[in-house]
Amino acid sequence: MSNSKADNIFSFPNQKTLEPLRLPRLVGHRGARSYAPENTLVSIHTAADMGAEWVELDVKLTKDGEPIIFHDDNVDRVSGASGAVADMVWKELKELDVGTHFSDSFVDERIPHLEQALDVILERGLGLNLEIKPCAGREKETAEVALDLLTSCWPEDMPAPLISSFQAVSLETALIMAPGYPRGYLISKDEPQTMENWQDKAKHLEVSTLNFDINFLKENSDILQDFLNTDFRLMCFTVNDREIAEQLFDIGVVSIFSDMPDLLD
Ligand code: G3P
Ligand code: MG
Repeated sequence: MSNSKADNIFSFPNQKTLEPLRLPRLVGHRGARSYAPENTLVSIHTAADMGAEWVELDVKLTKDGEPIIFHDDNVDRVSGASGAVADMVWKELKELDVGTHFSDSFVDERIPHLEQALDVILERGLGLNLEIKPCAGREKETAEVALDLLTSCWPEDMPAPLISSFQAVSLETALIMAPGYPRGYLISKDEPQTMENWQDKAKHLEVSTLNFDINFLKENSDILQDFLNTDFRLMCFTVNDREIAEQLFDIGVVSIFSDMPDLLD
């Protein structure tokens, strides 16, 4: 398998627009999560500095409805504070230090607003996979707010972002609001609702990609063969081992999500 940059891009028709959806071999997971605090502006810059072509970021809503780049339902793991994101307003959340938990070199790194993240992504010329990661009960609203902002900021002459989610309602909202943006169906045993009738749901939602958990491969489950038998382009998360990445590419996986943008260098 050649490692040239040209070979690292796969092109195929998006069912909806018939324009080519180009996916890179590697998508920087939460930016460059192994090298910088996840889902921060410095993490996006680090991914770009390391040569990533795309980044994946998680978006959810604050209590007052602002779209922020954040993974967990509460702030405890990545900040010195404690509390549920759904109960906190943007004014409180933007004061939190989400860098120190990673390293003292990132003291005072803040949670980005989606708009700030988009500015950096566009400035750095990165491709984007925006994962809609709603707090419970806000599946539709989170997709609406995120897509409203995204569609107003994202240049029409740039390849459209890939919108993914574990939540069917969020993907359905994306299909309605931004039908020209490709969608990715996230599937994991840790999110049991994604396992039920996944083929029917993915078809109904007109997704282009099936983004599956590496644990399906590790457990050698029959479902992996089912994934390979579909027409969806396969993306796998989260892969931080080069040998496993090569095995995945060999069986037909198009892209991996990795915390290490330099994994394939
Ligand atoms: O989108 C791939 C991956 O990010 C999904 O899992 O929990 O890291 O958001 P998680
Ligand atoms: Mg994610």
